[in-house]
Amino acid sequence: MKKLGVAVIGTGFWGRNQTRVFKELEETELLAVCDINAERAKSVAKQFNVEAYTNIGKMLRRKDVEAVSVCTWSTNLAKTVLKALQAGKHVLVEKPMATNTKQAEKLLKTAEKNELHLTVGFLMRFIPGIQHIKNAIENKTIGDLVCATAKRVSEWPERIGDVGVVKDMAIHDIDIARYLFDEEPIAVYAKTGNMKHKKFEDYAHIMLTFKSGKSTFIESNWLTPYKTRTLVVTGSKAIMKLDYISQELTIEDAKETMQPRYPWQEPLKLELQHFANCALKKEKPLITGIDGLKALKIAEAALRSSAIGKVVKLK
Ligand SMILES: NC(=O)c1ccc[n+]([C@@H]2O[C@H](COP(=O)([O-])OP(=O)(O)OC[C@H]3O[C@@H](n4cnc5c(N)ncnc54)[C@H](O)[C@@H]3O)[C@@H](O)[C@H]2O)c1
Repeated sequence: MKKLGVAVIGTGFWGRNQTRVFKELEETELLAVCDINAERAKSVAKQFNVEAYTNIGKMLRRKDVEAVSVCTWSTNLAKTVLKALQAGKHVLVEKPMATNTKQAEKLLKTAEKNELHLTVGFLMRFIPGIQHIKNAIENKTIGDLVCATAKRVSEWPERIGDVGVVKDMAIHDIDIARYLFDEEPIAVYAKTGNMKHKKFEDYAHIMLTFKSGKSTFIESNWLTPYKTRTLVVTGSKAIMKLDYISQELTIEDAKETMQPRYPWQEPLKLELQHFANCALKKEKPLITGIDGLKALKIAEAALRSSAIGKVVKLK
């Protein structure tokens, strides 16, 4: 089987994880890592027995590197992705994809022009329970969909210093709402603020409303001393609760409570495997650059709504 030659750019907390998974996958051949921090690049390269680079241009000149995953700081993801796309590489970019929608649009255009895959690291979509909920919505076993409530709270990981909780955390739930509802929100109202973080918001309450009358409520913060990642989806016939951490799914209807069991799977492995398979087989990925752009637009609208204290309508 042909393997996809891959490299990871940015070998911090998340890039190191990605490097491990790419090394484990049958579909990929991990060739190199790159980080502006030479020590970090060398240490990860040594651990996984690949070449270390500090100069991205030099690494991107390698013909055997066909695809890259970009895990740099959120505010320089776009600049790095643009270089990779211009060098003809397929790209998986971490969320939030870009600092603003203008940058994200440029990435989309470049990927399209160069006929390259551009996918975004919305990891939650690869948690098995999400597919169960998606199917229950599509085949209406949940009844008519009413709303979704997401909670994503924990302590502030201080290494994240360049974006706030909306673009770092709530963006996952924004993407899940778009995916499950299969519809774009028409308006957003949000209240955000900062208690510990000096520069950016560290708590956010976001409400998205949809034309069909459905709504999503997202609570995100970096103030809670324990980690919660949950989703509750309410339909007219059943309520589905997913714990993203344990991957436990609970379904309640008028008569019973059920817990369909899916074997725990590492979502990052499923995500990177999907990326590699799509690039190898030239198939459209589950998550495209457009999903990244749309989620970013909604995140920006949430921040604007909080700043002006009003509902922001979305086009
Ligand atoms: N999808 C998820 O669930 C998930 C989880 C964690 C992090 N992330 C994302 O991954 C990205 C990295 O987060 P992290 O927690 O690993 O941060 P981190 O600070 O631990 O690592 C970032 C690394 O990027 C390197 N870097 C910065 N600019 C670079 C450049 N131009 N070229 C090469 N290397 C560069 C830094 O030196 C650092 O080693 C962020 O965008 C974050 O949102 C996603």
